[in-house]
Amino acid sequence: MMSMVLLDVRNVKLYYTTTKGIVKAVDNISFELDEGETLAIVGESGSGKSTLAKLLVRVWERNVSLVDGEIYLEGKEILHMPEEEFRREIRWKRIAMVPQASMNALNPVIKIGDQMTEPLLLQGTGKDEALKMAMDALESVGLPRDLVNRYPHQLSGGMKQRVIIAMSIMAHPKVVILDEPTSALDVITQANIMNLLKKLKWEYKLSYIFITHDLSLASELADSVAIMYAGKLVEIGGAEDIYTNPSHPYTQGLISSVPTLRTDKTLSFIPGEVPSLINPPSGCRFHPRCPFYKDRDYLKGLCDEKEPPMVELEGKASRKHLVACWLYK
Ligand SMILES: Nc1ncnc2c1ncn2[C@@H]1O[C@H](COP(=O)(O)OP(=O)(O)OP(=O)(O)O)[C@@H](O)[C@H]1O
Ligand code: SF4
Ligand SMILES: [Mg+2]
Repeated sequence: MMSMVLLDVRNVKLYYTTTKGIVKAVDNISFELDEGETLAIVGESGSGKSTLAKLLVRVWERNVSLVDGEIYLEGKEILHMPEEEFRREIRWKRIAMVPQASMNALNPVIKIGDQMTEPLLLQGTGKDEALKMAMDALESVGLPRDLVNRYPHQLSGGMKQRVIIAMSIMAHPKVVILDEPTSALDVITQANIMNLLKKLKWEYKLSYIFITHDLSLASELADSVAIMYAGKLVEIGGAEDIYTNPSHPYTQGLISSVPTLRTDKTLSFIPGEVPSLINPPSGCRFHPRCPFYKDRDYLKGLCDEKEPPMVELEGKASRKHLVACWLYK
């Protein structure tokens, strides 16, 4: 089967202004998402995952000082189209998001039906139609239709998360961005939500961008995996290639620190922490933590000075396996 590129993200950047300086939270990232694909975006806390998600739905804080690059949805540029058009045609209807920790953002004293229909009413959908869409979506996520008349404070965490997921699929989007959709939940509820996401994917023919810091969780759902480090994409490829042949030293470190994915059984971890994105390290942003840089003389004056370009590796999956590291150049 030929896969169609649904979303083509090219050289996107998003910088924040703070009193301490400019935070380069997403700094020149490119990737494609195919129709029906689930792409997991994985990285440590502070690597820019949520910022990338916000960029894709154009919802960001006031202190954003730079937004750059291009995003094509089925060939149409959407990052720079007028906000009015984006709101009417794209947000919720074509690309929807389950924001990080959003179940806590439900207002406890406003009826679920009112909260679910609000974005649709703002887009001009009629009240009755919006309510029906909300009830259909609730049914799809395994909740009763009359939940529209209840209040979030009456629901468990798992039910609230189902409501948020129902909101994301309510207008039948093509792409759903899931930002840590299970991280606040207990293990059983987490497993139920993962199963729900798999079911919805088939039912609604969705493509997912699944954001997580947890590589083993990503492996349950992902066709492809993108690894972020300090505002950059450092490796991307088919899930099989990433799990069996992790090539960026950071990806290797991430994989060897996940007990269930380890082949050797010695627990390894990556010393150091994600650098400040105000003054990120020069060259390869991972060099202060990279074991290869430390050991190999020929990398001195290279990794710490020049940014490694993305190069293609041989891979098994249909998606190209790309890595940004001087070891492969
Ligand atoms: N509104 C903001 N103003 C200034 N800096 C911000 C803002 N939002 C995020 N940041 C900074 O941008 C960087 C990336 O943050 P982001 O939330 O995108 O990371 P993340 O990968 O989603 O992390 P987590 O796993 O903790 O959710 C961090 O250094 C963060 O402190
Ligand atoms: S470019 Fe150099 S420092 Fe960066 S990951 Fe590769 S070897 Fe390590
Ligand atoms: Mg985040």
